[in-house]
Amino acid sequence: MSAVVAKSQRLSTYPRAPILDWSSFARVKTIDPPCVGDLPHSVMTTSGRAALYLALLQLNLPAGSAVLVPTYHCPTMVAPALLAGLNVEFYPLRSDGLPDLDAIPASVFARAGAIIVAHFFGIAQSFGEVRAWCDRLGIALIEDCAHCFFGNAGDRPVGCWGDFATASLSKFFPVPEAGVLASVNREITSCLLESRSFLEQVKGGVDVFEFSAMYGGLRPLNKLVNNLSTLKKSRKPVGRPLVGGAPDASKAMMQLCDMGRISGKPLWISRFLGKMLSRGSNIAQRRENFATYLDAFAPLRNAHPLHLSLPDHAVPYVFPMWVDDADRVYEEIRARQLPVFRWDRIWPGTPSFDGDSGSVWSKHVLQLLCHQSLSSSDIKIISNEIKNLL
Ligand SMILES: Cc1ncc(COP(=O)(O)O)c(C=O)c1O
Repeated sequence: MSAVVAKSQRLSTYPRAPILDWSSFARVKTIDPPCVGDLPHSVMTTSGRAALYLALLQLNLPAGSAVLVPTYHCPTMVAPALLAGLNVEFYPLRSDGLPDLDAIPASVFARAGAIIVAHFFGIAQSFGEVRAWCDRLGIALIEDCAHCFFGNAGDRPVGCWGDFATASLSKFFPVPEAGVLASVNREITSCLLESRSFLEQVKGGVDVFEFSAMYGGLRPLNKLVNNLSTLKKSRKPVGRPLVGGAPDASKAMMQLCDMGRISGKPLWISRFLGKMLSRGSNIAQRRENFATYLDAFAPLRNAHPLHLSLPDHAVPYVFPMWVDDADRVYEEIRARQLPVFRWDRIWPGTPSFDGDSGSVWSKHVLQLLCHQSLSSSDIKIISNEIKNLL
């Protein structure tokens, strides 16, 4: 077996999401940034996409209203608006990742009831400008904190710019699915979520331990967990796939978004782990991993980090990196199963705008995971592998 194959097989074992291991419980003293989950009004949901859907329902927008969504998106940012029976309009991004408000035609914002603005990659920024724009035009702001569970966004804590903030717990904690709908000043009303069946609760719990055991997370319990997981018949989601409300061209994309459980309560295991797991070790490891990536990629000719430093209170979700020859490099990265992805699946009908950073990011920006279940030495090996590809 060649050295390259042996190495790539080893690399394919890097988890693409945090796993439950003993360090998940370690109390580590580190920065203590604000957290979306601690806002005065909050409800736990099954996912970030469910939180977006429920935020739109809370706004009770008139039929035919449009929701503005960035051209650079995960399809799960678009699907909730269509499922809520609203129209989606796309807006371009500036090079700093904030909405290019001047490029939104008046005919579009005249119909808009809400705008979804995300803190991409977990590096939060002030939404002061967009907040003022929304106030002037009477448009609701949904602050998408799926990448940014912790941190300060300019002179406010994350989640405090939006009428509602939404977050995704499964990107930050080893939980099977969970999100948060929150608000600093708006009550969350009539948000009656459906209970989950006993079977779903059990499966969700087993999922956490099974995923952990796949990566050797809870030695010496892994063998026991592997035996338990054989009792579980199927890993298929129990919820119904929801595609209603979408025009034909969007149906396949909607199906991929797996919106089946948006009206459900989060699983008990997600609530429990979300509350009791250590934030300190999680935050410290993410920041260390981001710094390790920064060291590794600083001097490259055909690629550069999108952020050249990590702000003091940032807790990153990924390390975003611009790559000139992204198609080739990403294909190689996928073949090696490195923990990296790219938002190249954009919603059908997303328009192109002159000078839109969103559309070029979909092609050129790779998102290198830096979660707490990757160690600094993992990050060094992954960086070297990518540097060789570059
Ligand atoms: C910016 C953004 N918003 C919302 C979501 C949806 O979050 P979830 O996967 O928890 O549904 C995602 C998912 O990747 C995302 O990246």
